Amino acid sequence: STPSSLRHLISIKDLSDEEFRILVQRAQHFKNVFKANKTNDFQSNHLKLLGRTIALIFTKRSTRTRISTEGAATFFGAQPMFLGKEDIQLGVNESFYDTTKVVSSMVSCIFARVNKHEDILAFCKDSSVPIINSLCDKFHPLQAICDLLTIIENFNISLDEVNKGINSKLKMAWIGDANNVINDMCIACLKFGISVSISTPPGIEMDSDIVDEAKKVAERNGATFELTHDSLKASTNANILVTDTFVSMGEEFAKQAKLKQFKGFQINQELVSVADPNYKFMHCLPRHQEEVSDDVFYGEHSIVFEEAENRLYAAMSAIDIFVNNKGNFKDLK
Ligand code: CP
Ligand code: NVA
Repeated sequence: STPSSLRHLISIKDLSDEEFRILVQRAQHFKNVFKANKTNDFQSNHLKLLGRTIALIFTKRSTRTRISTEGAATFFGAQPMFLGKEDIQLGVNESFYDTTKVVSSMVSCIFARVNKHEDILAFCKDSSVPIINSLCDKFHPLQAICDLLTIIENFNISLDEVNKGINSKLKMAWIGDANNVINDMCIACLKFGISVSISTPPGIEMDSDIVDEAKKVAERNGATFELTHDSLKASTNANILVTDTFVSMGEEFAKQAKLKQFKGFQINQELVSVADPNYKFMHCLPRHQEEVSDDVFYGEHSIVFEEAENRLYAAMSAIDIFVNNKGNFKDLK
């Protein structure tokens, strides 16, 4: 039977501000431990999952999420098992229910990458082990943990100050689609008191449940939350500029129409000229030229590759909190 206290990582929205900050803080902790490279010292303390397995049920492609999760599983001594859509019976010969019952009976945790958000909820309903949402059409929480780690490192934000309500006065501007990545990233920034301005093309609007939550989180953390279709307005004085692909996985059928709709939404020199002079550019990757010009993407303000590396530490934090600590944040403060 499914333990009632079982906690899953579905979205940043489901976490208290403090819980999310602990996730980011743990990611920073594991980065320090991993970088110190004192293999013998730290492994004996961290091999908490030796002899166990972690399943990755991925029905979509992945570079970063797969590599970071497999690396993080190995860090704790677990054997990762990548189960792509060609590998297992799910969706062809076997239902979500039967697959979830069987897989969760044998592994310590399931990282799941699926099309529909409902599929993540289906896994959560019947699993006997934690489910970590590894991207669905609505959320990408692992990316948000990584992104806030990258932001606090680059802007020297101390978690103690955030916890005391001392606001860094930073502004994050998102130019692009209203998608899974920004749904979690906007709530994540607001939980750290970072103001958010989102510019999408007319006709592309954020989901109302995300907007309602964002407003509440902004208010209690002394930040602002703005939605616009004017990218120059959103980018003005922004400290962090962010975008993502205009065509998410599963939307390839609508590629031509979407590219047309997003004309004028590229992050390029003209747009960054109104940002703060010390702005940073972020992107979850994979990246295409239509959403960001080469000179910005590979330029001196870009932190996209350290952002990508930080996915490893985000995955370690998620495994540590949701598996090693059974989703109990209280002892980790
Ligand atoms: N950012 C990200 O999730 O990349 P992948 O799709 O390669 O995992
Ligand atoms: N929005 C993108 C993110 C990929 C990491 C997608 O869903 O394909």
